[in-house]
Amino acid sequence: MKLYCKVVALALCLGILLLLYLFVGDADEPPLKVAKGSPAALVPSGPGADAAPALRARFRAVPPAEEEEAAQVSRREPRLHRKPGKRSAPKRKFANARRPKDQKPSTVQFSSPQWMHLAVVACGDRLEETLIMLKSAVLFSNRKLKFHIFAEDSLKPEFEKKLQDWPLSYTKKFEHNVYPIAFSVGNAQEWKKLFKPCAAQRLFLPMILKDVDSLLYVDTDVLFLRPIDDIWGFLRAFNSTQLAAMAPEHEIPKIGWYSRFARHPYYGTTGVNSGVMLMNLTRIRNAQFKNSMIPTGLTWEEMLYPLYQKYKNYITWGDQDLLNIIFSFNPECLYLFPCQWNYRPDHCMYGSNCKGAEEEGISILHGNRGVYHDDKQPTFKALYEVIRDFSFEDNLFQSMYYPLQSKFLDTVHTLCGRIPQVFLKQIEKTMKRLYENRVVVHVGANFRL
Ligand SMILES: *[C@@H]1O[C@H](CO)[C@@H](O)[C@H](O)[C@H]1NC(C)=O
Ligand SMILES: *[C@@H]1O[C@H](CO)[C@@H](O)[C@H](O)[C@H]1NC(C)=O
Repeated sequence: MKLYCKVVALALCLGILLLLYLFVGDADEPPLKVAKGSPAALVPSGPGADAAPALRARFRAVPPAEEEEAAQVSRREPRLHRKPGKRSAPKRKFANARRPKDQKPSTVQFSSPQWMHLAVVACGDRLEETLIMLKSAVLFSNRKLKFHIFAEDSLKPEFEKKLQDWPLSYTKKFEHNVYPIAFSVGNAQEWKKLFKPCAAQRLFLPMILKDVDSLLYVDTDVLFLRPIDDIWGFLRAFNSTQLAAMAPEHEIPKIGWYSRFARHPYYGTTGVNSGVMLMNLTRIRNAQFKNSMIPTGLTWEEMLYPLYQKYKNYITWGDQDLLNIIFSFNPECLYLFPCQWNYRPDHCMYGSNCKGAEEEGISILHGNRGVYHDDKQPTFKALYEVIRDFSFEDNLFQSMYYPLQSKFLDTVHTLCGRIPQVFLKQIEKTMKRLYENRVVVHVGANFRL
């Protein structure tokens, strides 16, 4: 193990040297050449302009990659510091969906700060879990985030306090709002009882967050292993009828829950899982939905309560079942993203069945059924614990990646533990990107000074 660490350290050093070398090579070319016709041409250059990002880079674990200056001037600018070859190499089939702005900088970038909105509903004992989820979001994401936290009144002060305790370099990457649990239609008590406490809240987000165009909703037991920017990119891939995106509930219909047990309509052959749900709220608010109650369409808000009344005796998983019913009648409205964006124990506990995750690693981990808190799926628990225990200012490799690897050694007796590379591939890539960013931005600034 010791030897292994040394080898890794040596490789890292070599990597840094290589990056340095490549950058120095690059610096001969004027950046304007790369930026021809792009908004980056407007970025003021010279030592004065570069000093601020360089200083900031020194004081944080995460690079200033795409922050204020990026939002105000252009999101392209920081990428110019990278080696172009480095980026294009790992491009996969979703690269287009993920980074549409890379290809076509539009004028919208200048005027809108392009916040990404993340919503979560936290009740009961889910406070810590929710904070770890938010932590993974802020650790790895590039653009600024707005957190919409729906929580029981008793949890609000604790949320405020905990979030304020995070270091400034991270708190300035997001804004947050804690809302009380509220239901706009029907009987509030009845909604609250549906499934686990408060989960039905998510169905009301289009009506409550009237000023928000698009939103990523996640369950509290979700962990981001790559920037939210990447899943956010799916919004741009929607065709004209799609207004929400989710992953299938199962990969294999034969052992899927819906295909075997559901007594209500559900989407597709296996149903969808609602733990990670991307929504274009503008479209949801404006759409007319087909339904099984009246021949004409209904708006989202009009439809919810009658639908619930009609199916309440047949549904098991609460709001997720309602979403499945809705999209079974309106399949053209749903964008289906692959399983690595909502990876659950189901994807490995009977043997690995999520092809996308085998190929490119897990992008978003979803530890449902409480697996972060018991010993049934130690691989899931290991990831939760290393992110929980990571102190913001530490080195990601030393304090997250290596501990993760050694924890995984203790999980090889489980089926999920036998495919550690599936769990590690994406998070490793994410860390590398952050690290490269930091080194290159830092070194680049020094070089020009
Ligand atoms: C959501 O849909 C509206 C209406 O079609 C569109 O104007 C908006 O750009 C979409 N939002 C995103 C993030 O794609
Ligand atoms: C959008 O995609 C969905 C799912 O593939 C499809 O059912 C729907 O017909 C498409 N809509 C349009 C307008 O092409």
